[in-house]
Amino acid sequence: MEELISKEELYQTIFKRKSIRKYHQDKLSGDQLQSIMDFLNEAKALDSEINFEAQIVDSDQVKSLIPIKAPHYLQFFSEEKGDYLLNAGFILQQLDLYLAANNLGSCWFGMAKPKKEIIADSDLEYVITLVFGRAAEDNHRDSIEDFERKTLSEIKSGSDYYDLLEAARLAPSATNGQPWYFKVGAKQIHVFQHQPNFIKKFFYEKMNRIDMGITLSHLWLAAEEHGYKFKFEKYSYDPALVEGYNYLGTVKI
Ligand SMILES: Cc1cc2nc3c(=O)[nH]c(=O)nc-3n(C[C@H](O)[C@H](O)[C@H](O)COP(=O)(O)O)c2cc1C
Repeated sequence: MEELISKEELYQTIFKRKSIRKYHQDKLSGDQLQSIMDFLNEAKALDSEINFEAQIVDSDQVKSLIPIKAPHYLQFFSEEKGDYLLNAGFILQQLDLYLAANNLGSCWFGMAKPKKEIIADSDLEYVITLVFGRAAEDNHRDSIEDFERKTLSEIKSGSDYYDLLEAARLAPSATNGQPWYFKVGAKQIHVFQHQPNFIKKFFYEKMNRIDMGITLSHLWLAAEEHGYKFKFEKYSYDPALVEGYNYLGTVKI
């Protein structure tokens, strides 16, 4: 299939995207919705052995304590195997960038739950929702200074691969928690996930894993853009220790 958008364009969008929570309520066309599904089905997976499916529904199919009123809700379901939450974050973040690159708004919606019938209807496990539509607020950031993020020195040690880590740094995350840490080695970057305390664990365990997939997708796009390889693996031992964080895996570049 012809590429719906270049990886370079997705990469460039990392530096201007933002979460959109105000939408025009008119629906996108059938063709636009189809392109969105086509893009998702062609997106790169971290683990292509894990099946997933998505459906686009209206607000009446969604429950949430703190709603976001949008014309469309994409509910993502996955086979519950391997690191499926990581894989889901990795895949769906490409869609978040695709939507922003096409001048549409989108927002990850971890607070949402599908209606019971929808969950019962699917053989796969419900993972998360992404809302989208025509933005009724400014859709892009003007500069990197407009991102509220930790500094690079707070999230990494080692001096190489600035471009890769800068893209990873700007990734969105649930409640902007940014649960990642990177330790740079020779031709590899070890990736760590913040260990939530006992109270936060209940809510954040699932979201943080999705966040890690999101940051890995930014790292992958940056690797593509700057001519590096990208192979994500997990060593059977911890290659390094970072206090307060758990080892997640290693990107070989
Ligand atoms: C896994 C995940 C879940 C999220 N859930 C919600 C949500 O339920 N409601 C909401 O308003 N924003 C949600 N967000 C959006 C984040 O709050 C937002 O990405 C973060 O504050 C960074 O801001 P930015 O995306 O504008 O750069 C979620 C983001 C992620 C990655």
